Amino acid sequence: MLREGQTSVIRREDYAPPAYLIDTVDLCFDLDPAKTRVLNRMRVRRNPDVPAQPLRLDGEELNLARVLVNGAGTSFKLEGNQLVLESLPEGPEPFELEIFTTCAPAKNTQLSGLYVSEGTFFTQCEAEGFRRITYFLDRPDVMASYTVTLRADRAQYPVLLSNGNLVEQGELEGGRHFARWVDPHRKPCYLFALVAGKLVAREQRIVSRLGKEHLLQIYVRAGDLDKTEHAMNSLMAAIAWDEVRFGLSLDLERFMIVATSDFNMGAMENKGLNIFNTKYVLANPATATDTDYAHIESVVAHEYFHNWTGNRVTCRDWFQLSLKEGLTVYRDQEFSQDMAGSPSARAVRRIEDVRVLRTLQFAEDSGPMAHPVRPDQYLEINNFYTVTVYEKGAELVRMMHTLVGTEGFAAGMKLYFERHDGQAVTVDDFAAAIADANPDSELARRLPQFMRWYSQAGTPHVSAETHFDPAARRWTLKLSQSCPPTPGQPHKEPFVIPVRLALFDRDGQPLPLRVSADAGAAAETTGEAAPLERLLVLTEREQTFHFDGLDAPPVPSLLRGFSAPIVLDFDYTDEELLILLAHDSDPFNRWEAAQRLVTRRALDFIRSDAEAKDAKVLDPATLEALRSVLRHPALDAAFKELVLTLPAETWLAEQLDVVDPQRVHAVREAMREQLALDLHHDWVWAWEQHRDNGAYRPDARSAGRRALAGMALTMLCVAARETGDVVWPGKTYQRVKDATNMTDRFHALSALVTAGHALAEPALQHFYAMFRHEPLVIDKWFALQAGAPDRGGDVLPLVRQLMQHPDFNLRNPNRARSLIFSYCNANPGAFHRADAAGYVFWSERVLELDAINPQVAARLARALERWKKLAEPWRSAAREAIARVAAKPDLSNDVREVVTRALAD
Ligand code: TRP
Ligand code: ZN
Repeated sequence: MLREGQTSVIRREDYAPPAYLIDTVDLCFDLDPAKTRVLNRMRVRRNPDVPAQPLRLDGEELNLARVLVNGAGTSFKLEGNQLVLESLPEGPEPFELEIFTTCAPAKNTQLSGLYVSEGTFFTQCEAEGFRRITYFLDRPDVMASYTVTLRADRAQYPVLLSNGNLVEQGELEGGRHFARWVDPHRKPCYLFALVAGKLVAREQRIVSRLGKEHLLQIYVRAGDLDKTEHAMNSLMAAIAWDEVRFGLSLDLERFMIVATSDFNMGAMENKGLNIFNTKYVLANPATATDTDYAHIESVVAHEYFHNWTGNRVTCRDWFQLSLKEGLTVYRDQEFSQDMAGSPSARAVRRIEDVRVLRTLQFAEDSGPMAHPVRPDQYLEINNFYTVTVYEKGAELVRMMHTLVGTEGFAAGMKLYFERHDGQAVTVDDFAAAIADANPDSELARRLPQFMRWYSQAGTPHVSAETHFDPAARRWTLKLSQSCPPTPGQPHKEPFVIPVRLALFDRDGQPLPLRVSADAGAAAETTGEAAPLERLLVLTEREQTFHFDGLDAPPVPSLLRGFSAPIVLDFDYTDEELLILLAHDSDPFNRWEAAQRLVTRRALDFIRSDAEAKDAKVLDPATLEALRSVLRHPALDAAFKELVLTLPAETWLAEQLDVVDPQRVHAVREAMREQLALDLHHDWVWAWEQHRDNGAYRPDARSAGRRALAGMALTMLCVAARETGDVVWPGKTYQRVKDATNMTDRFHALSALVTAGHALAEPALQHFYAMFRHEPLVIDKWFALQAGAPDRGGDVLPLVRQLMQHPDFNLRNPNRARSLIFSYCNANPGAFHRADAAGYVFWSERVLELDAINPQVAARLARALERWKKLAEPWRSAAREAIARVAAKPDLSNDVREVVTRALAD
């Protein structure tokens, strides 16, 4: 395949408004997998604000048959991937532009544009897929009104869907039929969608707070209807939440979700017609785990929330992607916390979100793909749907919320929609609305400085130093900030960093925070009691804060709730961490204290030259502290499970300058064995206390109990490996067979696999036989094996063997991810082989996938981007593997951008 089209970098500073505007689009599709005919009739006019110039329309892999202007033939040129029209009517009057093209959906393996999945037509237009359907101004600031007519064979494609309202349908000759849809809302073309195929729907009618009726539909394949209840419940909950929390209602008579098993990402917010990866729709207790249920709740909500944040107000250009994604992730995270209920269940969700941010986004921020939340340039925009744009972007919105308060933030959102409804805008417009609604806030005072969060890449470090003056009874906290260089950004200016702070005495009692009157900080003028928590706002490179009326040096609880996306360097003593772990009233920092203790032990050991096998990495005090969390009478099971989960290998690796991935793996395994053996009685207790056999309910509390019981089983199987015990593995095997829900069954299966027990093999076979007709469960089956702890290099041969399995299919992204990504991205101990065979496998798969689906290939290509941190021999072997990929002619822009950046110095 010869690739053509744009091969150079796109820059934010080059933004220019469109030279033409498209008011209406009338699309007519004759759907046929081999050759679909697309008639596109647009009403176009010159943009009065832009000097006259030719019209350049984007198009990719299209066969052009006809171009008419006001019904008459016209001259045109094809330049690369653009259709150029030079002799268009002068003046401001609109003209009719008619373009007739064909495309080949059955051959579309990239899953961008119009494609076929299991005999059904789907579209994916974000970011630039619409140009693979018809010639168009494929940019988000061109918004038009759409009318869409779909024509197809009635028997094979009984359901014909597009955005908006169904206005007409009927029969055609030759067994064909048609449907016509009109979208009442103007939209950018990336929100266009159509679906045509054999589908069935779960339907629900609801009445909004405004008294309007709406029809909700979830379309799936015939056998899957019994797996749509949870998605529908999640959708209804999301609709109600957005009305109550932000006063935002559904603006459509009909809201549809359609599931497909071939999808590049999680889901897509097309106006009124969301298209979802089946993984984020389908669930019943027999096939889906608690994690799946939670993901479905948050992705359904995420896409629904885009209806306002993204669709009603959209992005001016793709550099502003975080305008919709950061804000919408923030909204779905808030929603999921509210759905969790109790304060500690909310904290569990917060910890999970922070864990994602710190393991994935912090790594991205310190690697070759580091980019600001609003990037300055890209070669392929698909490479910038990143944890930085999404998750760090959400943290920036959360910091705005922190700086203006909950009511202030709601007022800011209201102003944002008053000003910008129906427009395509920038992240500056969003921040300005929040600030303008809160003129007296710290955000409004510091807005230009705050915006550095959007323009400067890299994770800021804040280091804290303290001093206690017993005579003055004064405690001083000095905070200083810095940010490491990132590609293209050697120097950084200081950020606005909100730091939540509380103080405790040595017995774990909270202490009032009295800000001193004479230290530059605002004095306490009111007679009210001093608060137990304060928000400090760090704006300088270095700032000092004083607190008075203290009898002894307090234990500071810094950055509570993870109030900013930074690394906090503070030299806590072990004793202080143990106090916080036992007493901090902020559950996030309680968890954080345990993480710090365990991470410190792990890093000290990794840096030493002691033998890791059977090592005592964790000291008795830390083990004791973990035990008391596990046995704690009041803490939630879900919270306990998080505290007892060891820091990820990738997280430990990020803390090191030079990484020996095998040593990191061995030390983490040693810690796990230690926890398994030392806390053996406690794990038995935890299992007995938390295993439920009642009916399955997906709520946070029962999910937490299952998670802790599952962890206990894993620990008991790991211990059995050391002690030769046969009872626990036997019980676990039995659980694989007789569990009454997928969560418990999968925990048991993964306990055997993780422990490398001989029963893992028959358990895997049993599991496969039970679920061979459930693709999403078979994905788990592949993923579990590819992610298993390596014993003597056995994982890679198994992965190669599984690639030959009849159920393996590289063209299906979920399946490719379940086997290949689980090995290359999620199993560092098995992937980083000293013989480089893991890297060879990686480079083969990147090239193989690039010919099929560049978006998926580019994600895999990122598995080795942190190669410069590796010790030898891994470092040289990794560079060689990347260079091998980079040397291939005809790489997609997607993969080329990733490997070129990885190799740059
Ligand atoms: N806008 C989608 C979301 O975050 C993301 C998405 C879905 C996407 N499919 C895509 C992005 C394909 C790029 C390419 O909700
Ligand atoms: Zn999104």
